[in-house]
Amino acid sequence: MALNVLLYQLQDLESSNYDLLKYMPKFMENIDPAVIRKVDDLKQALHRHNYRYYVLDDPEISDSEYDRMMQELIRLETDYPELSSPDSPTLRVGAPPLDKFETIEHSIPMLSLDNGFKDSDIIDFDLRIKRNLDTSSEIIYTAEPKLDGVAIELVYEDGRLVTASTRGDGFNGELITSNARTIRSAPMVLESGEDKNIPSHLEVRGEVFIRKEEFERLNDERLQQNLPPFANPRNAAAGSLRQLDSRITAKRPLEIFFYGIGVVTDLVVESHWDTLYALQDLGFRINPHIRPKITISEVLEYYRELIEKRHLLPYDIDGVVIKVDDIRLQQLLGATSRSPRWAIAYKFKALQETTRVTGIEVQVGRTGVLTPVAHLTPVNIGGAMVSRATLHNEDEITRKDIRIGDTVLVQRAGDVIPEVVKVISSKRTGKERRFKMPQNCPVCNSYVVRAEDEAALRCINIACSAQVKERIKHFASKGAFDIEGMGDKLVEQLVDRGLLFSYADIFRMHEDTLKNLERMGAKSAANIIDAIAKSKQITLACFIYSLGIRHVGEHVAGILAKTFGSLEKLISATMDDLIAIEGVGPVVAESIAGFFEQYENRNAVNDIIAGGVRILGENIREEGRLEGKVFVLTGTLETLTRSQAKKIIEMTGGKVTGSVSRNTDYLVAGTSPGSKLERANDLGVEIIDEETLKRLTIED
Ligand code: IVH
Repeated sequence: MALNVLLYQLQDLESSNYDLLKYMPKFMENIDPAVIRKVDDLKQALHRHNYRYYVLDDPEISDSEYDRMMQELIRLETDYPELSSPDSPTLRVGAPPLDKFETIEHSIPMLSLDNGFKDSDIIDFDLRIKRNLDTSSEIIYTAEPKLDGVAIELVYEDGRLVTASTRGDGFNGELITSNARTIRSAPMVLESGEDKNIPSHLEVRGEVFIRKEEFERLNDERLQQNLPPFANPRNAAAGSLRQLDSRITAKRPLEIFFYGIGVVTDLVVESHWDTLYALQDLGFRINPHIRPKITISEVLEYYRELIEKRHLLPYDIDGVVIKVDDIRLQQLLGATSRSPRWAIAYKFKALQETTRVTGIEVQVGRTGVLTPVAHLTPVNIGGAMVSRATLHNEDEITRKDIRIGDTVLVQRAGDVIPEVVKVISSKRTGKERRFKMPQNCPVCNSYVVRAEDEAALRCINIACSAQVKERIKHFASKGAFDIEGMGDKLVEQLVDRGLLFSYADIFRMHEDTLKNLERMGAKSAANIIDAIAKSKQITLACFIYSLGIRHVGEHVAGILAKTFGSLEKLISATMDDLIAIEGVGPVVAESIAGFFEQYENRNAVNDIIAGGVRILGENIREEGRLEGKVFVLTGTLETLTRSQAKKIIEMTGGKVTGSVSRNTDYLVAGTSPGSKLERANDLGVEIIDEETLKRLTIED
């Protein structure tokens, strides 16, 4: 096949006046011209496909076709080393290691940015600019996400990447050209086109980063190889970019977005947005969330929008960079020795802060797992006070070498529990104390065991009061029995006083027992008893979830309810039955089967039912019976809570909406209905009571 291509191309060459041959350097004279041309074609094609894949996100060929072309080029360059060149796509895989990095001076210093932390800082920035320019007209800005990565500069001569450097101290950076070549979204040669002028000299600047997901994967890999994980994606990107062996960099999932230029010849632009546009046209990747040409009040709106979007973006951003758009104005404003006067970074509140570990407590969870929790000197992280952070398990404490008294970096991301990222070892005084996990359960003093393939220690006493409390909290929580008023504090008090031990005890609770508790009025006690009574009607999915079986969250509970249709069938399901279910793996199946095998658990289930609980899913009328029907609920129902009513409607295929319209099929009205009843009457919507609803859905 390769021979055919060569022959074909030879003929082709003979008949054409191929200028490559005319300008062929002396050392290439011994090489078959067809090979030279083939190498050149492959290089061009690979650069183009690379651009389509990594910059445009729109590939034209399959991955395997790309790989085949790459392999062929590697083979030709190995056979004819004279043909390999600094712009070859094969260098994406890295070059032999260096002893150390050389440094290189930036022709224009890579400045940093002034920071703003509140709206008034940004409004002041706008006023300062108007004052400096002696104008009262509106200033137009372009605002961009501030990517939390590493700044680099790439230099292109006649459209070819010649050097790449880090920011360094702003004046001199480290030369990391081979490493930058491995970043697929950094072009090695620029796209030339009919009406496209490639500047003879071009310096571009951008931010190198690693996606959050790739960062997690990289850290997992490192842990498996017993290497210390990176603290955050920025450190991972910085560490990867500064590898002396670029073959290592090549294996790291680095990406880049470009945001500016240094010295450039023959590029006429009037605004920053024009610059970005021109860069994009040359094949550079530009962030899609940039908002061009806006006023200062629109900048503030954009900042708020990005705060909302921040967690949805696949990479970390730590603020918004606001730049005066007009280049002429930028030049008039100039820069201080540190930063330009025409730009500012409006930083988001940090989600990582440093603080001190004042102690370590061990908590016992629902399934008996012992979790070490750090007590911290309270610190504000992204607007919330944090005074505790999970340390996960003993292995994590050892790996991160966390000691009591240490200064640590703590991170809060989204809604998850804050965690300790790492110790700031330079702050060690020598007075820190190492921590050891206890040999016995800190709550009930019974043995703890460590399962073979698990990092967690577990208290094996299922009657341990910590486990009992956590199980009952879970049982009463939203998504399970959803008992209003049965909060954590109440459960703890009841368990501590010996008034509550099993799930079924809840259904035997007396109003008087509750009334005598601390901070409990007669009214609240009555409300709780009422809530308990209402909770006795429950869907099968919620019932299964409430049992707190390991690995059975709301989602799996839903699958099990749908598959088996009744508690009876679930309890008698075999391992084979369970594994056969889509969405249930062997670990989950084992956990479920193991749970119902235990006499205590089957007994607990029977006890709950004996307490008067009715599972609504079991006597459901034919599925899909109310398909497409729209319900609205109003007033207080007698035996069902709102969420139960909603669930049984949805189980039979109906939908519940918030307000009455012409599309409403039924209004379910309880006592003291509101204006919805009048509206339903006006529109002629059918009005039904709770009994009718039950007849329509669950009862024969
Ligand atoms: S413009 C003179 N734009 O922030 C203007 N910088 O604190 C210099 N950065 O070193 C930079 N995203 O690493 C600019 N869209 C963006 C940016 C950005 C991230 C980084 C960059 C720079 C640092 C300045």
